Amino acid sequence: MVKRIAVLTSGGDAPGMNAAIRAVVRTGLGYGWDVFGVERGYSGLVNGEFREMGPRSVGGIIQQGGTVLGSARCPEFKTEEGQRRAIRELNQEGIEALVVIGGNGSQTGAHALHKLGFPVVGVASTIDNDLYGSQITIGVDTALNIALEAIDRLKVTASSHERAFLVEVMGRNCGYLALMAGIAGGAEGISLPEFETRPEAVADVIEKAYERGKKHAIIVVAEGAKYDAPALAQYFQEHNEQLGFALRVTTLGHVQRGGMPGAFDRLLGTRLAGHATKQIHAGNYGVLCGQIDGKIGTTPLDEVAGRTKELDPDLVELANVLAK
Ligand code: ADP
Ligand code: F6P
Repeated sequence: MVKRIAVLTSGGDAPGMNAAIRAVVRTGLGYGWDVFGVERGYSGLVNGEFREMGPRSVGGIIQQGGTVLGSARCPEFKTEEGQRRAIRELNQEGIEALVVIGGNGSQTGAHALHKLGFPVVGVASTIDNDLYGSQITIGVDTALNIALEAIDRLKVTASSHERAFLVEVMGRNCGYLALMAGIAGGAEGISLPEFETRPEAVADVIEKAYERGKKHAIIVVAEGAKYDAPALAQYFQEHNEQLGFALRVTTLGHVQRGGMPGAFDRLLGTRLAGHATKQIHAGNYGVLCGQIDGKIGTTPLDEVAGRTKELDPDLVELANVLAK
């Protein structure tokens, strides 16, 4: 029976990670275990940066964005040498199981530990929502609401000045945030990394909106689209595209990640993490805890590692129909 567990947060921070840390600590303590936090994700793991967590150490954090444990990108952990170093540190501390809260890369790392024989359970967390094994991940809802608030505000000023805005949202490899922000924000156009959208086509959307007598045109552009927002603006200028509207560019960037988690992310973080300690208690290792068909469930890390969740083609189609 397990007596000592550890928890870490890895990759891009996401609002709701603190709720998940809190739930791991408190449910773990509830099982009578000693619970340790690992500082700075895998970077702290390979360097043995553990701190013991008590019920009070996670007091007052459920409403905070970010992660109180810190997060990092750790290239060393991608190597087997780095992973073995991490396992040695875990063994030296007497840790018998690890909870990894993070996105795609982090869960691929968790899978590597699992393959090397260390007991691991993952918790699905990334604002990108591209992790296979969970319909929605911790942080997405809050990040989306921040993007929407920005789009709503930009629409107001755009209408006052009869301008077009290119609004760039996060998503280096995945257009989920851009697609959903575009649909929910009533954007005139959306540009995603998954499909190449030619700058001429974007210019055409803006010009048509102008011709139809609209007061504004909002184009939501994912960071990872072939032409990101600054590149589109530059292209329009160089090719003297006649848009009708004057153009402005707003890049939302990390503003989307740093928000205070909403109810949805606090609850999702709490529930997924509670499920993760339950898996450890049951000895069910090498799995990712996520939301599946609306319920909390698990998917083997063997299936999750190195895989990404695709965009729903029906939503892409709907977005194209609605953008009129
Ligand atoms: P996210 O988990 O949000 O997708 P990253 O892709 O940056 O964020 O991954 C976070 C960390 O996970 C990386 O810095 C690295 O330490 C670890 N990681 C990423 N990919 C792998 C991999 N293929 N094998 C082992 N560890 C990995
Ligand atoms: O994976 C989450 C994410 O916010 C992506 O949307 C974005 O491309 C990336 O992280 C930014 O990474 P960093 O915080 O290292 O600049």
